[in-house]
Amino acid sequence: MKFELKGSDKGSKARAGVLHTDHGIIETPIFMPVGTAGSVKAVHQRELRDDIAAQIILGNTYHLYLRPGLDIIQQAGGIHKFNGWEFPILTDSGGYQVYSLSGVRKIKEEGVTFQSHIDGSKHFFSPETAIDIQRTIGADIIMAFDECTPYPCDYTYAKNSMDMTHRWLERCCNRFDNTSSHYGYEQTLFPIVQGSTYNDLRKQSAETIASFERDGNAIGGLSVGEPAEMMYEMTDKVCAILPTDKPRYLMGVGTPENILECIALGIDMFDCVMPTRNARNGMIFTTEGIMNMRNEKWKDDFNPIDTSLGGHVSTQYSRAYLRHLIVSKEILGAQIASIHNLTFYLWLVTEARNQILQGNFVDWKNDMVKKVTTRL
Ligand code: GUN
Repeated sequence: MKFELKGSDKGSKARAGVLHTDHGIIETPIFMPVGTAGSVKAVHQRELRDDIAAQIILGNTYHLYLRPGLDIIQQAGGIHKFNGWEFPILTDSGGYQVYSLSGVRKIKEEGVTFQSHIDGSKHFFSPETAIDIQRTIGADIIMAFDECTPYPCDYTYAKNSMDMTHRWLERCCNRFDNTSSHYGYEQTLFPIVQGSTYNDLRKQSAETIASFERDGNAIGGLSVGEPAEMMYEMTDKVCAILPTDKPRYLMGVGTPENILECIALGIDMFDCVMPTRNARNGMIFTTEGIMNMRNEKWKDDFNPIDTSLGGHVSTQYSRAYLRHLIVSKEILGAQIASIHNLTFYLWLVTEARNQILQGNFVDWKNDMVKKVTTRL
């Protein structure tokens, strides 16, 4: 999988690149909408591409393995054929959802025994099974099996966990390198830096992860409740060690402000449930700031949601109508809000890319941060 750097910002560590996959190119920096169970909640695949301009979406090994199950995905011919999204897909390994969603029974060197959040049934994930499952699902980019430590996390736990994640990575790479793609297109494996909020552990983890020389590298264990400044500090430290000629993916981040600040630190790829989850709760991100659609003040505001965005959803529907749909719990409210928020997130990273290439990123970023953090 080839990554081309197209430009670097002079005033920060921001970069603009192109990642080539067998399902098409990804222009970075990029935001990846989260499609946990093979669907981005409330958003049609055609809307994702034509209205939102998404280039890559995320799926979750944990969810797809439990439902519909590997047999069905294999029979369909892989995840792209199953869900009809013919562009790049990334799957997370389960090394996060297992801890956050299931009743984890036991974490051992061999792997993790857990209980399904759907029916309580018992399952086992290991570095090897996580790779086998992701081979069967068939995403373009697949993730190493790791342990995401919580915040706060004591030093000894963080160190032992990080060491185990590194040993698991060795096993993931062995399995990956000794198996092949099921469906005739290339897959690539990204390892994940851990180390909680400890500078020395983050440094050690970034050096270890870089030494595996995979096509891209991810940073995990952040945005788990630590202060934003701490997340930026860890991201900065890790980016200084990870190779510059490979994409860097910051997992589970974040707010529009977090994304802009982390682009400035050298991150190329992001994913987060925030634009879709918050949309369903009535939180709308715009180029001028954040709107809570449950607020009375929008009930007779007949202006479009956000005229600065090109997408038809953002300019066609009024704030008053969206508020009515959200308050009435209409399904269309979740659809319009999700499409709008994702359109905004994709606009944000695309504009960041343009500004990096034009040499004006830092001024633009500082101005945008003020805007996107305003409560309207
Ligand atoms: N998503 C957000 N953070 C993480 C992490 O640390 N590990 C994995 N696998 N997924 C994540």
